[in-house]
Amino acid sequence: MKVPLTVNGTDEVVEARPMAPLSELLRDGLELKGTKRGCETGKCGACTVLVDGKATKSCQRLAGQAAESTVVTIEGLAKHAGDDDDLHPVQQGFIDNFGMQCGYCTPGMAMAAVALLEENPNPTRTEIQEGIKGNLCRCTGYTKIYDSILDAAAQVEDTTIETSASDD
Ligand code: FES
Ligand code: FES
Repeated sequence: MKVPLTVNGTDEVVEARPMAPLSELLRDGLELKGTKRGCETGKCGACTVLVDGKATKSCQRLAGQAAESTVVTIEGLAKHAGDDDDLHPVQQGFIDNFGMQCGYCTPGMAMAAVALLEENPNPTRTEIQEGIKGNLCRCTGYTKIYDSILDAAAQVEDTTIETSASDD
């Protein structure tokens, strides 16, 4: 079947198996391999993407259910942040704070963090812990991940302050 949807700002019509998950459409149909497959049972969060702005485990969403929706994957995150070529603050936060080791969980973590910050731009460490609890990491012990997201939140705040100052 053919699934029409918008991925990372581009309108696509992607051929998919009738019961294929969205993760398969993204990885095999569009070669967007940044979205990882881990458990494929909704428990690890490695496959998390934004669907219509919400953090979504793409192994748990049928490709057909994503028809006409807007999807953002890790490959489109910088563009999602704005028109310049800068990384999204969450991506920069992970780099600056050594928020990854093997990196397998990182795309899903980043997408979950983006959704969290879009809902709550100034979260506490506990709110971050709660917000990404559906995403598992086998390497880091999470401390550096929380640091990365807190740093990203501060960068988002700085950007907001600069923007509102320049509006005056
Ligand atoms: S692969 Fe989707 S939640 Fe683990
Ligand atoms: S950095 Fe390896 S699983 Fe998280």
